[in-house]
Amino acid sequence: MGIGQLLVMDKITLHNKTFKPFIKNDELEAIIDNVADRINADFEGCTDVPIIICVLNGAVMFTAAVMKRLNFNVELCSIKLSSYVGTQSTGTVLVPLGLTSDVKDRRVIIVEDIVDTGNTIVALKELLYSKGATDVKICTMLMKPDVYAKPDKLDYVGKAIPNAFIVGYGLDYDELGRQYKDIYVIDE
Ligand code: IMP
Repeated sequence: MGIGQLLVMDKITLHNKTFKPFIKNDELEAIIDNVADRINADFEGCTDVPIIICVLNGAVMFTAAVMKRLNFNVELCSIKLSSYVGTQSTGTVLVPLGLTSDVKDRRVIIVEDIVDTGNTIVALKELLYSKGATDVKICTMLMKPDVYAKPDKLDYVGKAIPNAFIVGYGLDYDELGRQYKDIYVIDE
């Protein structure tokens, strides 16, 4: 089999779009090691139990991978916010599923798959502070600096990527593609 055929086989098709390899799982593992090291360093010796908030559904894989590497006690809860329909951010943040833990007087680490405009993460951060969280840190596997439009600091960023639509490792295109262990970028 020639190289051309292998490259074609590496591509995936979801609905009507084709995606090509972008970030291999090996690189993702190294990115996650690095993020977890930084969180462990910041929370070293903590006596409280911070809450990890997994932003459903996209951050499921990344949250699990980060949590496995943490060396202090955490509590896990999940929330669902979405500002995406298809491949474009709508700018509208929806909250179909609520918080499953009381964040009052607690430190919180939000774990996201990707930050694009920042609408989702900043809305969630404000929601958590309004519910009495004492400190809210943002941890995201990926971010798109060309699109991010908020003054808020992103505390733990795995990798900055160009403004392109990606899938895999939890990220979807209209609910498909989440299960891939590598990340793929739209092939246009
Ligand atoms: P934001 O609110 O514009 O920052 O969008 C963040 C949310 O949009 C993430 O939680 C993802 O679910 C989704 N999203 C942003 N970029 C992508 C992408 O390239 N592929 C798939 N989903 C994305």
